[in-house]
Amino acid sequence: MTRVGVIGTGTYGAIHLDAISQRQRLLGDVELAGFAEIDETRRRETEQRYGVRGYASHGELIERGRPEAVTVVTPDHLHYRVVMDCLDEDLAVLVEKPFATKVEEAEAMAAKAREKGLLCQVDFHKRFDPYHIDLKLRLEAGELGSVQYGYCWMEDVLQVGTSMIGKKSWEDQGSPAWFLGIHMIDLSYWLMGLPKPERVYATGFKGKLSSMGIDIYDSVKAEVTYANGAVFTYDTSVILPDSHESIVRQGVKIVGTEGFMEVNSQYRGARGCTTAKGMETPNLGMMYRKLSKSGETLKFGYLNDSIYDFIDNVQHLQNGGKLEELEGGYASPEQGIETTRIGVAIHESARSGRIQEIKH
Ligand SMILES: NC(=O)c1ccc[n+]([C@@H]2O[C@H](COP(=O)([O-])OP(=O)(O)OC[C@H]3O[C@@H](n4cnc5c(N)ncnc54)[C@H](O)[C@@H]3O)[C@@H](O)[C@H]2O)c1
Repeated sequence: MTRVGVIGTGTYGAIHLDAISQRQRLLGDVELAGFAEIDETRRRETEQRYGVRGYASHGELIERGRPEAVTVVTPDHLHYRVVMDCLDEDLAVLVEKPFATKVEEAEAMAAKAREKGLLCQVDFHKRFDPYHIDLKLRLEAGELGSVQYGYCWMEDVLQVGTSMIGKKSWEDQGSPAWFLGIHMIDLSYWLMGLPKPERVYATGFKGKLSSMGIDIYDSVKAEVTYANGAVFTYDTSVILPDSHESIVRQGVKIVGTEGFMEVNSQYRGARGCTTAKGMETPNLGMMYRKLSKSGETLKFGYLNDSIYDFIDNVQHLQNGGKLEELEGGYASPEQGIETTRIGVAIHESARSGRIQEIKH
């Protein structure tokens, strides 16, 4: 039985709580040790909903809830302090993407995890999408030849800009390139077998959100050159009309010497329109439902898979396995450093208008 705590229970923390409590009910090999949430109203609501104790700080969760592992689901720019404190307390940590928004923070977290021999995994769940896994296997088998260029897009509706990454508690630190782009940056980096990023050029656009008093980018367009010679373009934005048929438009195209492959990572063939919900394209790769024998609706898909993978890794270590045996099979802190370097270079290029060379 592994005791897992969740730190930060906003929009995405609820996904973590759902995933862990479902596994607790289904497999019984994990127990929700409680959660930490600084917002008192949310803390009370979450306590009622999940029937577990909420604490006002991660320190209190660690001391009184006694988790063996935690998932950190605080806003993008607020992962560092929490992760460092948890590693100091010898806990295994799953960190939401992006690993960090500063290279120094990513390096310090990676150094601490390595020094203590602890599992520190980044929740890059696009690696668990079966369509992306298929693409990776094709690339590894050489079906596409050597990759020359690629294109990734991930664009969210305006509501994400105004009510999620643009809300006050994100302190104007949100960015479509951090919130969305990092998913696709990690995906392409992982698909290609982790080539070092070398050069970045990016343009950031402001106007729509700033006219609403939110001083963050509406969209960011970036081009990254990797050490294998491949050049990838990443288009990200948080200003799609709210009437769009899903919260997100997303996908990846990769072109190599022997062919190409395109994945529409959102539209998976099911489309509909209802009075209650309007147009919809449910992404069953991310989440599909099943009924248990007792009639309970269960959720599966890459949304949960990446969280369960972390728990499996924690249990591997608890059962006497070694961290080295997991290397290569999870989004490590070193890989988190590389994607953080790209994210930082994108923002620096967008700010300065200059190409950024990435130093290693
Ligand atoms: N994997 C994905 O697809 C995905 C989707 C959405 C969000 N995320 C990531 O999850 C993280 C959280 O995003 P969100 O949309 O849930 O944000 P959110 O603002 O809705 O929730 C964050 C919560 O953390 C709490 N918090 C902040 N500092 C805290 C601390 N020190 N201790 C305890 N609680 C604290 C806030 O009060 C808030 O309730 C971000 O890094 C985001 O990028 C990932």
